[in-house]
Amino acid sequence: MRGRFITFEGIDGAGKSTHLDWFADALRARGATVLRTREPGGSPLAERLRALLLSEAMSITTEILLMFAARQDHLDTVVGPALARGDWVLCDRFTDSTFAYQGAGRGAGSEHIAMLERWVQAGLQPDRTYLFDLPPEEAARRRAGARAPDRFEQEDLDFFGRVRAGYALRVQQDPARFVTIDARQDIAAIRAVLQGSIDTLWA
Ligand code: TYD
Repeated sequence: MRGRFITFEGIDGAGKSTHLDWFADALRARGATVLRTREPGGSPLAERLRALLLSEAMSITTEILLMFAARQDHLDTVVGPALARGDWVLCDRFTDSTFAYQGAGRGAGSEHIAMLERWVQAGLQPDRTYLFDLPPEEAARRRAGARAPDRFEQEDLDFFGRVRAGYALRVQQDPARFVTIDARQDIAAIRAVLQGSIDTLWA
Protein backbone atom coordinates (compact mmCIF):
# COMPACT_ATOMS: atom_id res chain seq x y z
CA MET A 1 0.00 0.00 0.00
CA ARG A 2 1.29 3.46 -0.83
CA GLY A 3 2.07 5.91 1.93
CA ARG A 4 0.32 9.19 2.49
CA PHE A 5 1.46 12.77 2.85
CA ILE A 6 -0.33 14.37 5.79
CA THR A 7 0.20 17.89 7.08
CA PHE A 8 -0.73 19.61 10.33
CA GLU A 9 -1.53 23.32 10.40
CA GLY A 10 -2.78 26.04 12.70
CA ILE A 11 -1.79 29.28 14.41
CA ASP A 12 0.94 29.08 17.05
CA GLY A 13 -0.48 27.78 20.31
CA ALA A 14 -3.22 25.61 18.78
CA GLY A 15 -1.58 22.44 20.12
CA LYS A 16 -0.91 20.65 16.85
CA SER A 17 2.50 19.23 17.88
CA THR A 18 1.00 17.24 20.76
CA HIS A 19 -1.63 15.77 18.48
CA LEU A 20 0.95 15.04 15.80
CA ASP A 21 2.92 12.84 18.23
CA TRP A 22 -0.21 10.93 19.13
CA PHE A 23 -1.24 10.60 15.48
CA ALA A 24 2.19 9.17 14.53
CA ASP A 25 1.90 6.56 17.33
CA ALA A 26 -1.64 5.65 16.26
CA LEU A 27 -0.49 5.06 12.68
CA ARG A 28 2.52 3.00 13.82
CA ALA A 29 0.20 0.88 15.95
CA ARG A 30 -1.61 0.02 12.73
CA GLY A 31 1.60 -1.07 11.08
CA ALA A 32 2.45 2.04 9.05
CA THR A 33 6.05 3.19 8.65
CA VAL A 34 5.87 6.82 9.73
CA LEU A 35 8.24 9.70 9.09
CA ARG A 36 7.54 12.71 11.29
CA THR A 37 9.05 15.91 9.97
CA ARG A 38 8.50 19.67 9.98
CA GLU A 39 8.72 22.90 8.02
CA PRO A 40 10.55 25.11 7.75
CA GLY A 41 13.24 22.45 8.23
CA GLY A 42 13.18 18.68 8.10
CA SER A 43 16.52 18.25 6.28
CA PRO A 44 19.99 19.43 7.36
CA LEU A 45 20.06 22.35 4.90
CA ALA A 46 16.44 23.31 5.56
CA GLU A 47 17.05 23.30 9.33
CA ARG A 48 19.83 25.85 8.79
CA LEU A 49 17.43 28.00 6.77
CA ARG A 50 14.86 27.57 9.57
CA ALA A 51 17.29 29.00 12.10
CA LEU A 52 17.70 32.10 9.91
CA LEU A 53 13.97 32.41 9.23
CA LEU A 54 13.05 32.28 12.92
CA SER A 55 15.68 34.75 14.07
CA GLU A 56 16.72 37.25 11.38
CA ALA A 57 14.78 40.28 10.21
CA MET A 58 14.37 40.19 6.41
CA SER A 59 12.10 41.46 3.65
CA ILE A 60 8.90 39.56 2.99
CA THR A 61 10.14 38.50 -0.44
CA THR A 62 13.34 37.08 1.03
CA GLU A 63 11.27 35.33 3.67
CA ILE A 64 9.01 33.66 1.10
CA LEU A 65 11.94 32.63 -1.09
CA LEU A 66 13.83 31.12 1.86
CA MET A 67 10.69 29.23 2.93
CA PHE A 68 10.45 27.70 -0.52
CA ALA A 69 14.20 27.07 -0.75
CA ALA A 70 13.92 25.11 2.49
CA ARG A 71 10.80 23.36 1.18
CA GLN A 72 12.53 22.35 -2.07
CA ASP A 73 15.42 20.75 -0.22
CA HIS A 74 13.09 19.03 2.25
CA LEU A 75 10.97 17.61 -0.61
CA ASP A 76 14.00 16.51 -2.65
CA THR A 77 15.97 14.84 0.12
CA VAL A 78 13.40 13.68 2.70
CA VAL A 79 9.71 13.80 1.77
CA GLY A 80 9.99 12.63 -1.84
CA PRO A 81 12.19 9.59 -1.08
CA ALA A 82 9.99 8.61 1.89
CA LEU A 83 6.80 8.74 -0.19
CA ALA A 84 8.54 6.77 -2.94
CA ARG A 85 9.34 4.06 -0.36
CA GLY A 86 5.68 3.95 0.65
CA ASP A 87 6.19 5.59 4.06
CA TRP A 88 3.61 7.81 5.69
CA VAL A 89 4.95 11.33 5.99
CA LEU A 90 3.53 13.52 8.76
CA CYS A 91 4.67 17.09 8.36
CA ASP A 92 4.30 19.79 11.01
CA ARG A 93 3.35 22.73 8.70
CA PHE A 94 3.68 22.98 4.93
CA THR A 95 2.68 25.42 2.17
CA ASP A 96 -0.66 26.34 3.78
CA SER A 97 1.50 28.03 6.45
CA THR A 98 3.14 30.18 3.78
CA PHE A 99 -0.24 31.28 2.40
CA ALA A 100 -1.50 31.94 5.94
CA TYR A 101 1.57 33.59 7.54
CA GLN A 102 3.37 35.33 4.67
CA GLY A 103 0.40 35.72 2.29
CA ALA A 104 -2.36 36.72 4.71
CA GLY A 105 -0.52 37.55 7.97
CA ARG A 106 2.22 39.67 6.45
CA GLY A 107 0.03 40.79 3.56
CA ALA A 108 2.13 39.49 0.67
CA GLY A 109 -0.93 38.13 -1.12
CA SER A 110 -1.18 34.75 -2.77
CA GLU A 111 -0.04 35.30 -6.36
CA HIS A 112 3.69 34.76 -5.96
CA ILE A 113 3.25 32.05 -3.35
CA ALA A 114 0.92 30.15 -5.70
CA MET A 115 3.58 30.44 -8.43
CA LEU A 116 6.28 29.01 -6.15
CA GLU A 117 3.91 26.30 -4.94
CA ARG A 118 3.42 25.10 -8.53
CA TRP A 119 7.13 25.24 -9.27
CA VAL A 120 8.50 23.63 -6.11
CA GLN A 121 5.78 21.04 -5.52
CA ALA A 122 5.30 20.09 -9.18
CA GLY A 123 1.79 18.80 -8.53
CA LEU A 124 2.48 17.28 -5.09
CA GLN A 125 -0.17 18.20 -2.50
CA PRO A 126 -0.83 16.69 0.91
CA ASP A 127 -3.36 13.85 0.82
CA ARG A 128 -4.88 15.35 3.94
CA THR A 129 -4.36 18.42 6.09
CA TYR A 130 -5.51 18.72 9.69
CA LEU A 131 -6.16 22.34 10.57
CA PHE A 132 -6.23 23.09 14.31
CA ASP A 133 -8.41 26.14 14.48
CA LEU A 134 -8.40 28.44 17.50
CA PRO A 135 -9.35 32.08 18.13
CA PRO A 136 -6.14 34.19 18.34
CA GLU A 137 -6.97 35.37 21.87
CA GLU A 138 -7.12 31.80 23.15
CA ALA A 139 -3.93 30.86 21.28
CA ALA A 140 -2.12 33.84 22.85
CA ARG A 141 -3.23 32.74 26.33
CA ARG A 142 -1.87 29.26 25.67
CA ARG A 143 1.44 30.57 24.33
CA ALA A 144 1.98 32.94 27.24
CA GLY A 145 4.66 31.59 29.51
CA ALA A 146 5.16 28.41 27.47
CA ARG A 147 8.62 29.49 26.25
CA ALA A 148 10.43 32.44 24.65
CA PRO A 149 8.55 33.45 21.48
CA ASP A 150 10.28 33.20 18.09
CA ARG A 151 10.08 35.93 15.45
CA PHE A 152 6.64 34.80 14.23
CA GLU A 153 5.19 34.24 17.68
CA GLN A 154 5.96 37.84 18.64
CA GLU A 155 3.32 39.12 16.24
CA ASP A 156 0.14 40.70 17.63
CA LEU A 157 -3.46 39.50 17.76
CA ASP A 158 -4.38 41.21 14.49
CA PHE A 159 -1.63 39.31 12.74
CA PHE A 160 -2.89 35.95 14.03
CA GLY A 161 -6.44 36.95 13.10
CA ARG A 162 -5.25 37.43 9.51
CA VAL A 163 -3.34 34.12 9.62
CA ARG A 164 -6.50 32.36 10.79
CA ALA A 165 -8.49 33.96 7.96
CA GLY A 166 -5.76 32.92 5.51
CA TYR A 167 -6.18 29.32 6.60
CA ALA A 168 -9.97 29.58 6.25
CA LEU A 169 -9.50 30.72 2.66
CA ARG A 170 -7.28 27.73 1.88
CA VAL A 171 -9.97 25.42 3.26
CA GLN A 172 -12.55 27.11 1.04
CA GLN A 173 -10.37 26.58 -2.02
CA ASP A 174 -9.77 22.86 -1.40
CA PRO A 175 -12.32 21.59 1.16
CA ALA A 176 -11.79 17.89 0.37
CA ARG A 177 -8.17 18.01 1.57
CA PHE A 178 -8.86 19.57 4.98
CA VAL A 179 -10.17 18.31 8.27
CA THR A 180 -10.74 21.36 10.46
CA ILE A 181 -10.56 20.67 14.16
CA ASP A 182 -11.92 23.02 16.81
CA ALA A 183 -8.81 23.19 19.01
CA ARG A 184 -10.82 24.55 21.97
CA GLN A 185 -12.04 20.99 22.60
CA ASP A 186 -10.24 18.87 25.18
CA ILE A 187 -7.54 16.44 24.15
CA ALA A 188 -9.80 13.37 24.34
CA ALA A 189 -12.39 14.90 22.01
CA ILE A 190 -9.71 15.88 19.50
CA ARG A 191 -8.21 12.40 19.60
CA ALA A 192 -11.62 10.92 18.88
CA VAL A 193 -11.89 13.06 15.75
CA LEU A 194 -8.38 12.06 14.64
CA GLN A 195 -8.97 8.38 15.37
CA GLY A 196 -12.15 8.41 13.30
CA SER A 197 -10.41 10.05 10.39
CA ILE A 198 -7.51 7.57 10.38
CA ASP A 199 -9.90 4.89 9.15
CA THR A 200 -10.81 6.97 6.11
CA LEU A 201 -7.12 7.32 5.24
CA TRP A 202 -6.86 3.56 4.87
CA ALA A 203 -9.55 3.43 2.21
P1 TYD B 1 6.47 25.80 14.27
O1 TYD B 1 7.39 24.70 13.93
O2 TYD B 1 5.00 25.51 14.35
O3 TYD B 1 6.92 26.53 15.58
P2 TYD B 1 7.36 25.86 16.93
O4 TYD B 1 8.61 25.07 16.68
O5 TYD B 1 7.56 27.09 17.72
O6 TYD B 1 6.19 25.00 17.35
O7 TYD B 1 6.65 26.94 13.17
C1 TYD B 1 7.64 27.88 13.23
C2 TYD B 1 7.13 29.19 12.72
O8 TYD B 1 7.28 29.28 11.30
C3 TYD B 1 5.65 29.42 13.00
O9 TYD B 1 5.53 30.60 13.76
C4 TYD B 1 5.03 29.63 11.65
C5 TYD B 1 6.19 29.96 10.75
N1 TYD B 1 6.01 29.56 9.33
C6 TYD B 1 5.73 30.53 8.39
O10 TYD B 1 5.59 31.72 8.72
N2 TYD B 1 5.61 30.17 7.06
C7 TYD B 1 5.76 28.88 6.65
O11 TYD B 1 5.66 28.59 5.43
C8 TYD B 1 6.05 27.88 7.64
C9 TYD B 1 6.25 26.45 7.21
C10 TYD B 1 6.17 28.26 8.96
